[in-house]
Amino acid sequence: MDAVFTISDMDLGQVFTNRNIARFMASLFTLDANATMLDPCFGTGVFLEALDSLGFKNVTGYEIDSTLCDEVLSKFKKCKLYNEDFLSSQLNHFDGIIMNPPYIRQEKIDGLSPLGVTKNKLRNNIIFSELPQNANLYMYFILKAITILREGGELIVIFPNTWLKARNGVKFRELIGAECSILQQINITGKVFEKNALVDVLILKIKKEKICAEPIIQNLFFDGQKLVKKKLIHEMDLGFNLPFFKVATAKRGLTTGCNAIFINPALTCNEPSCLTPIITSPKSIKGFSTKDVKLDYLLTLNQDVPNSILEYLNSWEEKIINTQSPKTLYNKILDKKAWYRLRLIQNEGIIFSYFIRNEIRFIYNNSSYQVRDNFYIVKPKISGLLLFALLNNYYTFYQLECYGKRYGAGLLKIQRYDLERINFPDISCFDDNAIYQLENLSMQLIATNDLEIVNSITQLISQYSLIGYKDILEQYSALKKERLEDKNYD
Ligand SMILES: C[S@@+](CC[C@H](N)C(=O)[O-])C[C@H]1O[C@@H](n2cnc3c(N)ncnc32)[C@H](O)[C@@H]1O
Repeated sequence: MDAVFTISDMDLGQVFTNRNIARFMASLFTLDANATMLDPCFGTGVFLEALDSLGFKNVTGYEIDSTLCDEVLSKFKKCKLYNEDFLSSQLNHFDGIIMNPPYIRQEKIDGLSPLGVTKNKLRNNIIFSELPQNANLYMYFILKAITILREGGELIVIFPNTWLKARNGVKFRELIGAECSILQQINITGKVFEKNALVDVLILKIKKEKICAEPIIQNLFFDGQKLVKKKLIHEMDLGFNLPFFKVATAKRGLTTGCNAIFINPALTCNEPSCLTPIITSPKSIKGFSTKDVKLDYLLTLNQDVPNSILEYLNSWEEKIINTQSPKTLYNKILDKKAWYRLRLIQNEGIIFSYFIRNEIRFIYNNSSYQVRDNFYIVKPKISGLLLFALLNNYYTFYQLECYGKRYGAGLLKIQRYDLERINFPDISCFDDNAIYQLENLSMQLIATNDLEIVNSITQLISQYSLIGYKDILEQYSALKKERLEDKNYD
């Protein structure tokens, strides 16, 4: 009597790919919509869907699990789908193959014998003869895929990266290289599979053609939605233990609720008493101080609103009521509050724009100007000039490059909690001379905007760090360069 088996008892390596990853992989093809495409083990059909979304019309799929196959058949009627063992099927050539092959260790391959897959049978197939004895099932899948790829065809495959460090991986790479070239190697961390991902994975883009070029290597992190560039440089221990909150506080600048009403208001009268200077953009600041800043003006009204401004306010009030926007001002009007009155902010200290495009810089707000909410106001708890030096050096800039979030196109956003994560060297260990020199350098930086002074501050602070001056400069520059060259998938 034949042994009774059920597919659900078997380990078929069923780990399904996240939809966004599948789409990203399919986007790596440089083939046209009429190309013949194959997914050799389609599972729940995530790659079939990704290919369909890109307009591929000629798609074939294999899946050994009949239950899965039945489910998918009804969803993808235009595809040619087969409930068969891919490894033993006789197939024509394909222009493109996309897959997440089953990850099954060599000792467990015979567990698939009820479905006709055994290690012996595989070893007897000439195309697998050179694979190491301990090859994982995914290696068989990749070799078979290469065999049925047409000359110049493309294979996009995702699989665990453990082979990169394993001894059998060397032979495996050699076998891929016999007829093909690896064009891209994308190392991915994060949860790329629907079930618990046990290992980090990589995506290879392989072309069946011999090309004399090294693969392009990328390191990406999958945050569940999109792939973002992973920082190559890991955070170093600077040996600093003085937290930000001990030396400063940070708060956001002034929010108007509607800049069109309050910033440089289009008044028909001249009422200078109602206008307060305000800094609205980092672009208006040159260097490290606000002394030559290009100011804007903020409509600032007290209890008594001059008659000449009433008309301006009334027309805006009408607009806000009609459009019910902006919501915050509309609600204030409904609550019969003086919606036009803004609370000014205590601004003495250092200001910092949290969208960084190029250089990071903390700016001395000489005249305690009001600033808009695209700045943070850093208020010192220690000498302002000492804090200014602690902020304007490559140790701090390095930490911000590490903590900030990259938005592609070179943009770095620093949240308040990123700022509050900064650590400084323990200033209680500084001798008087060091403090004097740092304060002096701060004054020079404010007066001259000379970037060389940032180097001098960094050099001085390096005496109190585990990371030397040259190293911090190098690491910071590398991070910054990486950011500026960033091409995130946002
Ligand atoms: C890692 S899963 C990937 C499924 C799907 N492509 C995805 O990425 O979500 C591998 C699939 O291969 C199927 N499979 C295992 N051995 C197979 C074989 N010899 N021929 C065809 N499919 C097989 C499994 O049932 C499973 O659905």
